[in-house]
Amino acid sequence: MLSHSVQQLLNEQVAKELYASNLYLAMAGHFAETNLMGMANWMRIQSEEERGHALRFFEFVIDRNGKAEVGAVAQPPAEFGAPVEVFAQALAHERKVTASIHALYAQALKDDDYATQVFLQWFINEQVEEEANASAMVERLSMAGDNRAALLMLDTEMKGRSAE
Ligand code: FEO
Repeated sequence: MLSHSVQQLLNEQVAKELYASNLYLAMAGHFAETNLMGMANWMRIQSEEERGHALRFFEFVIDRNGKAEVGAVAQPPAEFGAPVEVFAQALAHERKVTASIHALYAQALKDDDYATQVFLQWFINEQVEEEANASAMVERLSMAGDNRAALLMLDTEMKGRSAE
């Protein structure tokens, strides 16, 4: 049985993952508008992954005989900066998600909820990967700087990302 605190945090995580999904979709729209179709593709796939994460949390609450709830999801920004700034924003967001998952794990430990601890381990590993991916993009875009040719090369490379 889920404790009230763990259930609440799991439900809040559903809304947080949905916000991340919408944020990355908004970023995909921004990149498409600026003709950086590889980056748009990367963000669109990321958006789909985040929706998948939301569903994993949602279904886990149901599997544990809890009450799954979908909270309010804020509107993401409509305007974005240069590519390096957009990816830095994505990295900052992933760090927030990591902190949220760690807080959830801490609560599951406190409540002796072993099933939630095991469930969260996948997300803890996933966050390491997601932060590394976003961080690598920030570094590579920083290296490209104002060089349009380097930017287009990175964009072309990002067209190759496909859904897992
Ligand atoms: Fe679902 Fe990128 O955290």
